[in-house]
Amino acid sequence: MSPSLTVRRIAADQGAVFRELRTASLREAPYAFGATLEDALSADAASFDATAADHAVSFIITTFILYTEGHPAGLIEAHFDDTAARRAFVCELWVAPAVRHLRGGELLVDSAAAWLSNEGATEIYAWVADANRNAMRFYEALGFGPTGEHRRVTRAPDQAESLLVRHVPTTSQVFQQ
Ligand SMILES: CC(C)(COP(=O)(O)OP(=O)(O)OC[C@H]1O[C@@H](n2cnc3c(N)ncnc32)[C@H](O)[C@@H]1OP(=O)(O)O)[C@@H](O)C(=O)NCCC(=O)NCCS
Repeated sequence: MSPSLTVRRIAADQGAVFRELRTASLREAPYAFGATLEDALSADAASFDATAADHAVSFIITTFILYTEGHPAGLIEAHFDDTAARRAFVCELWVAPAVRHLRGGELLVDSAAAWLSNEGATEIYAWVADANRNAMRFYEALGFGPTGEHRRVTRAPDQAESLLVRHVPTTSQVFQQ
């Protein structure tokens, strides 16, 4: 039987869970993220507590956590950038290998996108490393397409990443479906 997967916004007291998931993601999939495992391991516990407390209440940035049978098993960040356009992004997406291909990633992206759209986003953006073919296919399967915008990966300047976008359906588009 498939484990049941649920997603909830991070709570203010979940700094330790957040640290555990971030370090697990950076250890397991270092190719997928801008930060390194060393960055996360060298940060003190208080900084994760502060991030969890902020992400639990902020209108600009948050984190959603995936649970399998009540155990933390993945995460995603959602935020608005500080440009005039106030673009909405999902990032730092990771699902534990034991529960991949069970739609946990989709549940995380949809939860983050719903929060962003509730805060006013009409388009949801995601930077994906060109070499990360799995993530590229995952985002495409969820309706994200290319914007044509590219940049160098900060952690590995010889590599490129591409900006993908998914349009949030308007209320009238939802009713037409
Ligand atoms: C990318 C990732 C989050 C996907 O999580 P997941 O829970 O396995 O994905 P889902 O089960 O929700 O997949 C939804 C759809 O995406 C597509 N998809 C998911 N993983 C895929 C893969 N490895 N290759 C091709 N398509 C894939 C499929 O179409 C899938 O639907 P299907 O299972 O009915 O075929 C997960 O593989 C992961 O954590 N990877 C390492 C970290 C990473 O790359 N993060 C993204 C940074 S940009």
